[in-house]
Amino acid sequence: MGAHLTRDDGRVRLRPLRADDADDIVRWRNDPAVAGQMFSPAPATPDDHRRWFERMQARGDRLEFVILADERAVGTIGLGAIDRGHGRAQYGILIGEAEARGRGIARQASELLLDHAFDDLRLHRVHLSVYADNAPALRLYRRLGFVEEGMLRQHAVRDGAPRDVVVMGILRKEWREPLTSTPKDE
Ligand SMILES: CC(C)(COP(=O)(O)OP(=O)(O)OC[C@H]1O[C@@H](n2cnc3c(N)ncnc32)[C@H](O)[C@@H]1OP(=O)(O)O)[C@@H](O)C(=O)NCCC(=O)NCCS
Repeated sequence: MGAHLTRDDGRVRLRPLRADDADDIVRWRNDPAVAGQMFSPAPATPDDHRRWFERMQARGDRLEFVILADERAVGTIGLGAIDRGHGRAQYGILIGEAEARGRGIARQASELLLDHAFDDLRLHRVHLSVYADNAPALRLYRRLGFVEEGMLRQHAVRDGAPRDVVVMGILRKEWREPLTSTPKDE
């Protein structure tokens, strides 16, 4: 279950992932444009996804949402490895419907999720990993205010070749920081 995340204009909304999203998830994750940017293999069948969904719910350290744009499901976004003790979580996103990319939907969905992470869950830090050659994702993350914290050289193997992975993070005090801020005591 869990909360739906929405804003007043309501055009982009997040609703909790459900077991019956399995067909969409399998289709999106197997799209080469998505599969080539993920760190784990795509579920081959809807049953594979449902098994993952059950394990995820049992672990309880993950919040996964479907992105709705004008009520149409276009992708997923979520927080994994949620650690309340350390106040951190790992953010991930995919826009599965090709025509929904490059329209600002990912940005709005990410803003909803980061508001939830910092304002409701009171996390201190949200972090992510991304292949160093994933230009659209890097652009989105920089625009959101994520800071590059390091490069893990040849950290993951994709299509049989080792790839560099960039680690990025954003802190609660950096989220929605005004562009012109006056110096303040730490
Ligand atoms: C990475 C990913 C989520 C980025 O999504 P996206 O659709 O490119 O991101 P946005 O929705 O923010 O759109 C980006 C562009 O739309 C533009 N845009 C923003 N609002 C807009 C609007 N209202 N109307 C039209 N265009 C708009 C932005 O200006 C931006 O263009 P710019 O980068 O030239 O400035 C997407 O490419 C994807 O799912 N890729 C495959 C999976 C993946 O790589 N996931 C990340 C793994 S780490």
